[in-house]
This record gives sequence, structure tokens and C-alpha cells, in this order.
Amino acid sequence: MKLANNKATLSFSNGTPNIELPVYSGSVGPDVIDIRKLYAQTGMFTYDPGFLSTASCQSTITYIDGDKGELLYRGYPIEQLATHCDFLETCHLLLYGDLPNAEGKASFTRRVTNHTMVNEQMQFFLRGFRRDAHPMAIMTGLVGALSAFYHDSTDINNPEHREISAIRLIAKLPTLVAMAYKYSAGQPYMYPRNSLSYAGNFLHMMFATPCEPYEVNPVIERALDRIFILHADHEQNASTSTVRLCGSSGTNPFAAIAAGVACLWGPAHGGANEACLNMLTDIQKMGGVSKVGEFINQVKDKTSGIKLMGFGHRVYKNYDPRAKLMQETCREVLTALGLENDPLFKLAMALEKIALEDDYFVQRKLYPNVDFYSGIVQRAIGIPTSLFTAIFALARTVGWIAQLNEMIGDPEYKIGRPRQLYTGSAPREVKPLAQR
Ligand code: CMC
Repeated sequence: MKLANNKATLSFSNGTPNIELPVYSGSVGPDVIDIRKLYAQTGMFTYDPGFLSTASCQSTITYIDGDKGELLYRGYPIEQLATHCDFLETCHLLLYGDLPNAEGKASFTRRVTNHTMVNEQMQFFLRGFRRDAHPMAIMTGLVGALSAFYHDSTDINNPEHREISAIRLIAKLPTLVAMAYKYSAGQPYMYPRNSLSYAGNFLHMMFATPCEPYEVNPVIERALDRIFILHADHEQNASTSTVRLCGSSGTNPFAAIAAGVACLWGPAHGGANEACLNMLTDIQKMGGVSKVGEFINQVKDKTSGIKLMGFGHRVYKNYDPRAKLMQETCREVLTALGLENDPLFKLAMALEKIALEDDYFVQRKLYPNVDFYSGIVQRAIGIPTSLFTAIFALARTVGWIAQLNEMIGDPEYKIGRPRQLYTGSAPREVKPLAQR
């Protein structure tokens, strides 16, 4: 970051002297006003619940232009990555700053592939859960539990520990998600098959059984790989900020990523794909496309508490570029599986069309986000709805680690400690129990 040409001057109406605040420019995007010395100089904090105007860090990983609907990983447009690269190349890009050459790709793939198995003891830990536990409850537990199994990579301040824990997390998340699924289905776990691609191996662990051979469908493999790429990072969203804040205390990488998994679960964040598919299924049960108008009216009625899931975004005030790519993948998968007339896809298209023309959505700049179509793709692949957010967590893990490692390597890194505007009781005396 470099100093911008201008400075910000903060003036007060009560006679407190003006102060000058430095302004910094990034490589693209809005400048930031540096308020780090504000409290020392004025005794005041800034107030920004929800971080609507606050840059919490500097980062070189992901850039979003919400007005244009643009998403870049390390400068590369998401459309190009989703078309020309695979997920492991994207992981390399996010973790190390650039796309690998052929040799680098082979070596990175080998390193990840060598770590796909999890400690055998993990399955006994998994058995402690109820069979009907939500996969995200299981994932929060399993990812946190990795720190109990891999003691040699828990020192967040040691670059070698950070590197090996990064590789382990990327390699083992598919295994853990598939184990959570097999456990709920009452089927035997399938060990990783390292001759397959990252997405192919995940499909194998999910859908193969020991009874018969399983062939990976290349269209589904590519679609899943694209889902992983599109979800791999998204700058300082809620779960990433959670991972950074959690990691800033010096906790181990597995614990910090488990915190991210827990945050992602919420329906306003990663849980939206599950909520979106449930919403489509409910409208379908109510009568399908003919009920879209009625449903949109309910969404617009603020007293209903109903939101159009898969629509709207804190940063995108234009079509989410990931949603466009996901819609394309959705068509490809449905065609390959002979499901072109899938009623939920038709319903989603009808909802999207009406919402994009409706004043309520136009005025608020609400567009489809990545979750609007990803659920339909996953359902067509055979992934149960309750597992959607776990797939998101699997893909986002690399982004979380890249951001965590960037934070720890930043010389300006400090423990995260927001302040508050206290509006509770002024100091008061505790009365003896009998007088309260
Ligand atoms: N349906 C109906 N109204 C909406 C929606 C929606 N999906 N999203 C926002 N609005 C309205 C909101 O009620 C508010 O209206 P008003 O100005 O009249 O009070 C206005 O639009 C601005 O919304 P906001 O809540 O201030 O926006 P936000 O930036 O705080 O929230 C959001 C962003 C993603 C939480 C929200 O749009 C939402 O809840 N969407 C549905 C859930 C969803 O799809 N989430 C996935 C996000 S993308 C995946 C990820 O990164 O996790």
C-alpha cells in the first residue's frame, strides 16, 4: 500500500482541533483512510457495525468490484480461471501468488494427494455423532479435531507448520466431507483414490461403494471442480474475517479454520445454498412457476420475514460473476444427465427473470449470487441438500488458509480487538440479595 496524494482532515464542531489522517491507495479499488492513531489523538473510536466502511486489513489475494460484478484471484478474472484452470491450480495461485507451470502443478498435486487420508482414529470420533447430525455440525467438530491428530503442524508462527497444515487441510477436507456423508447414509467409508483428480476422488469417496466399480462422469467431475474454483476465496467475507480474527490470537490453523466453518454455516452466508434449494422446493410444492408472482410479493412484504435466498450481496451491486458461470454449469450438468426439463431449474429461471425486472430488486440492486444455481447443480449430481454448505467449506478452505497465512506474514499483524460504543448501565453498586 502506498500513500495517496491527498490527506483526510477530520474536524469537530466542539472546538477540538482538526486532525489529519493519512490516505493509502491499493493497486485497484477505493482508497482507505488510516484511522489507527485516531483514538490516541482524539480519544474517540469510529463506529461501523457490520464493517460497512471498514477495511480490516490489506490483502493481495482477491479483488471484487461489486459495481462491475468483477472477481479477481491474484489479478486473474474468475471467468478465465473457471474456464482454463482446475481447482488445484487455483489453490496454488491463492496460496503462493501465481499459477503453477506444468512441473509446479505436478509437484503441488503430488503433495496434496499424499495427504488425502485422515488418521484412522477420526472415524471413531465421527461415530460419536448422531447419524442425523447436520453435516456442518460434524464438519465444525472434525476440522477442529484435526489439531488433536496433527501435533507437528499446530504452530501458526512457524512457516513450515503453516505450509504443512495448509496442504493437509486442502487434502483432507474432501475426505472428511465424504466421511460425514457416508456416516449419515449408513454406508462404509471409501478411502481416497489418489489416481483420480481432486474432484474425481471426492466423487469416488462420496458415491462409490465397495460392492461395485464406480466410474467418474467427466461432466460432473468438471462441474464439481468449477464449483470448488468459484467458492475458493471471496476476500474479507464473514467466515474469512472470522478465520483471521480467530487466528490473530495465535491459535493453531486447524482451530482457526474450524471457526470459519462454523461461521460459514449461517443462512446469510454459506448456508444460503441449502436455504435456496429448500425455498425452490417449497415453491415447487406450492404450485411451481405459477406461484412465483405470489412468492415475490411475500418477499417484498417486509413483515413476512421472507427473503429471496440466493439473491443480494453485501459487495455485489450487479450480477455476481460466479452466478453467471454457475448458471452455465447448471445447464451443462442437466443436459449431460438428461434433466433439461428439471422443474427446479425452470423455477429458478422464472424467479430470476421476474426479480430482475421488479422495482423492489432493481432499486436495491439485488442480483442472483453464486448460491442461486449451485444448489440445483449439486442436487443433480446427487449431493444431498444438507451437504451443500459442507461442499462450500471444502472449497473455501484454501481461501481461508491463504488469508490466514497472509495475515501471519504481515509485519503489521496484531491480535484483532475491535472496540465498542458502550450504552449499558453507568457504574452502580451491588446490593445485598435481600435488597434487590
Ligand atoms: N431478498 C429480499 N430482500 C433483500 C434480499 C433478499 N435476498 N437481500 C437484501 N434485501 C433487501 C433488504 O431487506 C434491504 O431492504 P431495505 O433497504 O428496504 O431495508 C436491502 O435489500 C439491502 O439489504 P441489506 O440486508 O442491507 O444488505 P446486506 O449487505 O446487509 O446483506 C445479504 C447481504 C447477502 C446478507 C442479503 O442480501 C441476504 O440475506 N441475501 C439472502 C441470503 C443469501 O443469498 N446469501 C448468500 C450470499 S453470497 C454467498 C456468500 O458469500 O456467502
